Amino acid sequence: MINQEHSGSGDNIGGDKNVYVLPPLPPPLTEIPQNVNRYHSGTDTFVGRREDLRKIDEFLHNSGQLAITSAVKSVTGMGGVGKTELALQYALRYQEKYPGGICWVAARSGNIDLQIVDFCQSLGVYIPDDLNPRQKLDFCWSRWIDGNVLIIIDDVQSYGDIKSFLPPKNEKFKVIVTSRQRLGQLEQLRLKLLEPEEALELLKQIIGEERIDQELEKAHELCGWLGYLPLGLELVGRFLKTYDTWSLNKVLERLERKKLTARALLEPQEDEGDMTAQLGIASAFELSWERLSKEAQLLGCYLSLFQSNLFDWGWVESSNLYPHEDEEEQVDELERLRDEELRKFNLLPMIKEEGENKVLFSYHPLLSRYFESKFNQLEEGEDFKRKFCSSMVEVAKSIDDTPTQQEIEKFSIVVPHLEMIATEISECIDDDDLTWPFIGLGKFSEGQTNYQETERHYKKCLLICQQRLGEEHPDVASSINNLANLYYLQGRYTEA
Ligand SMILES: Nc1ncnc2c1ncn2[C@@H]1O[C@H](COP(=O)(O)OP(=O)(O)OP(=O)(O)O)[C@@H](O)[C@H]1O
Ligand SMILES: [Mg+2]
Repeated sequence: MINQEHSGSGDNIGGDKNVYVLPPLPPPLTEIPQNVNRYHSGTDTFVGRREDLRKIDEFLHNSGQLAITSAVKSVTGMGGVGKTELALQYALRYQEKYPGGICWVAARSGNIDLQIVDFCQSLGVYIPDDLNPRQKLDFCWSRWIDGNVLIIIDDVQSYGDIKSFLPPKNEKFKVIVTSRQRLGQLEQLRLKLLEPEEALELLKQIIGEERIDQELEKAHELCGWLGYLPLGLELVGRFLKTYDTWSLNKVLERLERKKLTARALLEPQEDEGDMTAQLGIASAFELSWERLSKEAQLLGCYLSLFQSNLFDWGWVESSNLYPHEDEEEQVDELERLRDEELRKFNLLPMIKEEGENKVLFSYHPLLSRYFESKFNQLEEGEDFKRKFCSSMVEVAKSIDDTPTQQEIEKFSIVVPHLEMIATEISECIDDDDLTWPFIGLGKFSEGQTNYQETERHYKKCLLICQQRLGEEHPDVASSINNLANLYYLQGRYTEA
């Protein structure tokens, strides 16, 4: 719950409005089951939004389902305004209200229903194997453990994508959806840009009061230039923190010069509506990009193949990105590029898994896209895609034939990446490995007794093998065999 909140040290910057900086996030309570921290760690310097937090709580108390969208008029929807962060801050600051658990669902990773079912299962709810996915989800809603539950579905593209996965409307289930689109079917909290004073406070939290005071007017100008968007402010703030001899004026001039190259990172429609703000973030990205070593740039581009989904650093280490005689040296070098360059500029947030000694990462959706634009200009592109496929194939191979619930949870972050290589860049998978992404996906969905999904993967596998390898190839035979085994398992003996 919000308690000791205090007004920021910059109470009166630029006027006499109070600027709120909330105290650091409380640690997760052990008695509240949640998976929020698996996806985001939350910022230490959360400014403003006090009234929004209160409104969310009130909304949820009264009506149960709420969408956080952006207040800015734009065709494409505004990214980086702070929707995801607000949902996370709400969840952790109000966690005691949800003894039935807080379930974070990453809509972009797909399989929304499975993510919810997995979470429910992790609460100890037994879900019969012989139900189809729809029945499983309904079963979860009806057997969920006691107490109010908060479901957060992050980064939804359209209402149609989530409609059938929403819980029944009752007192128990509260839902927050975040989206760049207007989801007119739900009650909305339209998130505004930060107030000028709040933007200034955020910058101040990152680079310190002294530098702001020295160039107060330029600091205001900079915030305006960045469209008062938290993501842009964060990027420029981290840049200024690293280059602590640079004046704000110098940064402003550099940003101005980056505008032209930055425009190339935007999608054509973004050239209208929210131009200033989005161009601000893109220019901030360019500023940091230019300061990265060639190797760090390449690594940044390579990581955009994970899009904005979670990935395990171990997969990058085993990708053989920079072949090196000494394996240990390669691992160290990758870590250095990651920590001393990408993370230093706040381009790559890290997420620590509770109780696990591995670290996970994921790009912000906008940054992932900017890196992807850079990737598309690389000569190494094709080679990177091949290496990416090989390393994901190795992960697919390591999935057990009959994965346990625990393994399913562990491997759930692999699914969007296997889907990606199987559908978007399958031409970069080696002939010898061609079946593996599909087998991995198949084992995974079969482990969740989602046979419909398994069938889809195995059919796709057969088709792609027939097309690429020819009817006579042994992999075609083994793909048919996989399908036959699946039908047999389901009792569809004639088809088998
Ligand atoms: N009120 C705030 N104070 C400080 N930092 C913030 C605030 N809101 C957001 N941020 C930071 O700004 C960045 C962008 O925020 P966030 O990811 O929530 O944007 P978003 O609106 O969800 O964007 P997208 O539409 O691309 O998903 C994050 O790194 C977040 O930590
Ligand atoms: Mg978001």
